[in-house]
Amino acid sequence: MTAATDRPQSAAKTESSDLILSALGMSMVFGGLVALNNVDLSIERDSITALIGPNGSGKTTFFNCVTGIYKPTRGDVILYPAIDLPSISLKGKPADVITHQGLARTFQNIRLFNNLTVLENVLIGRHTRMKAGLWGALTRNKKTRQEEAEAIEFSFELLVTYGLDSMANELAKNLPYGDQRRLEIVRALATEPKVLLLDEPAAGLNISETSALRDLISNIRENEKVSILLIEHDMSLVMTVSKKIYVFDYGRLIAQGPPDEIQRDPKVIKAYLGED
Ligand SMILES: Nc1ncnc2c1ncn2[C@@H]1O[C@H](COP(=O)(O)OP(=O)(O)OP(=O)(O)O)[C@@H](O)[C@H]1O
Ligand SMILES: [Mg+2]
Repeated sequence: MTAATDRPQSAAKTESSDLILSALGMSMVFGGLVALNNVDLSIERDSITALIGPNGSGKTTFFNCVTGIYKPTRGDVILYPAIDLPSISLKGKPADVITHQGLARTFQNIRLFNNLTVLENVLIGRHTRMKAGLWGALTRNKKTRQEEAEAIEFSFELLVTYGLDSMANELAKNLPYGDQRRLEIVRALATEPKVLLLDEPAAGLNISETSALRDLISNIRENEKVSILLIEHDMSLVMTVSKKIYVFDYGRLIAQGPPDEIQRDPKVIKAYLGED
């Protein structure tokens, strides 16, 4: 049992050893538009954290800044890889380096390789953890072939764990929509992330697919050593799976806390009702 779980849950202050990632003073300006305004957001180790807010409040921009797709105007992102390891600043690092450091994400609009198979899509995620360089890939030496075999085994095991193995050889485009969302998440897991960022995974799903997604997210939290940051508009999903919720409005952090507090926070209610 870790020191973190020994501490009372009601402890008012989260200590930095309980954190896996902190974004500090994150700002992003597009021309005259302040899409993110001095946001601080931390993710607790081994937990599910949600990020909610009305359309255009800066949620996806936040993901893009944290994962190196955008270079934020200001701010830093600190990764705490393990309790006994030094922290790492991800500031200014390119997206592939950030993936390698342990951040993986999915996109609001599914981004699969439609004409590759389900297994091949997961293998592409796995590739970030493979050592063979271009020379190895070209010569296909023994070491490379062994690494490839291991990658296939690892990827197939993930498909088994998350219920996609029967479709391993299907083209991604032929999967039902809910399974495409699931595949994107499994591909992200193939990078063995420390932090998994999911951008509206329930978008476009029907009620039963959303229920399956809820189980998937909970299973991932239990099976993998990963902390999850979830952007989602489906409030029933957010309120049931998250330990802590952050709320953005017009690029600002307007509230943070456990689901029961957030649900009745007047600032949050106003932000949503003011949308129409
Ligand atoms: N690359 C960009 N260039 C200019 N403006 C942008 C860019 N990306 C986002 N924006 C603007 O920044 C603001 C925040 O957008 P963002 O996509 O982060 O919102 P969101 O909270 O993810 O919304 P939604 O819930 O609709 O996905 C919006 O006004 C958007 O138009
Ligand atoms: Mg978005």
